Amino acid sequence: MSKDTLTVTDNRTGKSYELPVTDGTIKATDLRQIKTSEDDFGLMTYDPAFLNTASCRSAVTFIDGDKGILRYRGYPIEQVAEKASFLETAYLLFEGELPNRTQMDKWEHDVRYHTYVHTNIIKFLEGFRYDAHPMGMLLGAVGALSTFYPESKRIEDPANRYLQRVRLMAKLPTMAAFAFRHSRGLPYVFPKNDLSYIGNFVNMTFEIGRQHEPNPVLQRALEILLILHADHEQNCSTSAVRSVGSSHVDPFSAVAAGIAALYGPLHGGANEAVLRMLDEIDDKKHIPTFIKAVKEGGDRLMGFGHRVYKSYDPRAKLIKKVAYDVFEQTGLNPKLEIALELERIALQDDYFIKRKLYPNVDFYSGLIYQAMGYPTDYFTVLFALGRLPGWVAQWEEMLQDKDQKISRPRQIYTGYAEREFVPMAMRG
Ligand code: CMC
Repeated sequence: MSKDTLTVTDNRTGKSYELPVTDGTIKATDLRQIKTSEDDFGLMTYDPAFLNTASCRSAVTFIDGDKGILRYRGYPIEQVAEKASFLETAYLLFEGELPNRTQMDKWEHDVRYHTYVHTNIIKFLEGFRYDAHPMGMLLGAVGALSTFYPESKRIEDPANRYLQRVRLMAKLPTMAAFAFRHSRGLPYVFPKNDLSYIGNFVNMTFEIGRQHEPNPVLQRALEILLILHADHEQNCSTSAVRSVGSSHVDPFSAVAAGIAALYGPLHGGANEAVLRMLDEIDDKKHIPTFIKAVKEGGDRLMGFGHRVYKSYDPRAKLIKKVAYDVFEQTGLNPKLEIALELERIALQDDYFIKRKLYPNVDFYSGLIYQAMGYPTDYFTVLFALGRLPGWVAQWEEMLQDKDQKISRPRQIYTGYAEREFVPMAMRG
């Protein structure tokens, strides 16, 4: 008869242990009973970068990396991206259910009325150099928000958590837009609360002398991109938010940690790196030389590969569609041709096929952002705006999970055994 257990025999001692298997996992702490002697610490698992370790239970997002499936709270990403607004998607991630009209009206109203930031935030942003990277500015400014709202430390109070969630959703676009204007030396444009969430953000970034003409196709395209980025279960930045949040710090500080993690070129910074790579390749005729360098290990094909997806990233498929809607409005991005050719060659190349490397969400998103008028170093900020609901939803889920404690991995110590301190005069 089959049993939901795993029998492990320790060949060092000859002893056998029966460990419960739940949801396809064993508890790492169940291994601690496996010892060679009374004073042995017990068996641990070694899993750098969490390649095969579930760090939490989560009901937010489901991914099947082999089949290329992504669902938010059970809803396929294709349907959410087609039918929902970004704020509706955020509500779904936070609350677990789609809002009814009354719930949606309240949610939109709450976010709308918190879009202004304390005027000292402006002074804070003005302290940055003219060429400061907008991700550095955003991460500093979001961290600073915790000093404006000290009550955000009361993370055990659901009403207080809701208020901080609203503040984060409402103020991140404002601060992101201010960072955009700062790097151009343009005056900040304040929120206009009769506009939609996306419309307001676009207005704060692009408005000059009341000349900005909103383009609904581009605004919807930006909204779809934010929806596609809204959550992606335990990715690097979300794990950072959960891990930092597990110390029970306020949500602004935890989200600042997420922004820092997203900044890296292997994570959210990849969309920026893709554009730099396309600039470097410059012409289709240079692609074979570039691919050769990648295969020899000198370069990475940025925007390709994923820890979880071992088939086409479903978000990349949707983004490719959005790209054509956008280019119809803006004219073709000349780099698209290089990207399409890169993808074509890579998908036929043994190196990429063997390693199951397919385009990820970042391969085409940068081309779209560029066509919309955002500079390369701003792309990751747009990713952060999209990922915010995921960070906050997962942070709140973590706080309410009775299994969770402060994050504190173990290590395998590889340094010296105890040795005597050598005074300076006696060192060689
Ligand atoms: N170009 C060339 N080779 C690659 C690439 C790539 N983009 N990605 C992975 N490989 C190779 C890698 O060299 C390794 O080969 P080998 O087995 O011969 O050593 C093999 O594929 C497995 O790679 P890995 O680094 O062990 O895989 P990982 O799961 O640790 O890394 C990744 C995942 C996304 C960091 C990686 O694929 C990568 O660096 N991609 C480029 C950066 C990128 O596009 N990042 C955005 C990810 S999607 C947005 C997000 O969620 O942040």
